[in-house]
Amino acid sequence: MNEKKGTFVVLASGRGSNFQAILDQVNAGNIPASCCALITDNPDAYAIERAGAAGIPVQVVAFRSFPDKGSYESALISAIDLYNPDLVVLAGYMRILGNAIVSRYAGRMINIHPSLLPAFPGLHAQEQAVRYGVKVAGCTVHFVTEDMDAGPVIIQRSVPVFAGDDGALLAERILHEEHIAFPEAIRLFFTGRLYIEGRIVGICDPDATPDLCGRHNGEELR
Ligand code: GAR
Repeated sequence: MNEKKGTFVVLASGRGSNFQAILDQVNAGNIPASCCALITDNPDAYAIERAGAAGIPVQVVAFRSFPDKGSYESALISAIDLYNPDLVVLAGYMRILGNAIVSRYAGRMINIHPSLLPAFPGLHAQEQAVRYGVKVAGCTVHFVTEDMDAGPVIIQRSVPVFAGDDGALLAERILHEEHIAFPEAIRLFFTGRLYIEGRIVGICDPDATPDLCGRHNGEELR
């Protein structure tokens, strides 16, 4: 099993509770990797304070400082590449990324979304779920591809939807599961347990199927 200590950067736009949950599991020794930077598009993101408290460098790449999406994304790529991370973690990063950036980190960029994808992609997923009337909701951690909220699924966790729920109540219930699912997905990545075949993500058994571990369509995942 590949247990070499790796590095990751986190992109977050707001509160950063997922970022915190990931840091907590790193600090508890459950993820064999370290966070080398927080990168945010929002100079007011509370995630910045969390990074400060954890001694993690912060880079603000604010969308409005750039004339267009292309130059914004070039700056974002430079900010990420400065750290040469094994993994890019989108933890409440609220911008849709273009093809240049997504293809650059194919197989090593993951996102969390507060629905059981492919249901309810896009914004306000929890409200969408309540309005639709589903009885089960949840969260999805997935590899990022060019299509929004549509990449290969790593982990999903479900919660019930109760009569009387609104978007906020459901969001809180889902968030609790996000804080379990996201660190677990990152742990699996850094312990070399994930492999991708087409759009299927498998969790390999290092004893029974060592040849699959850490492969992306047959190539090394990181
Ligand atoms: C989380 O619920 C996450 O799933 C969602 O934003 C929230 C961020 O919370 N992400 C998306 O909707 C991405 N499409 P946090 O800042 O406390 O981690």
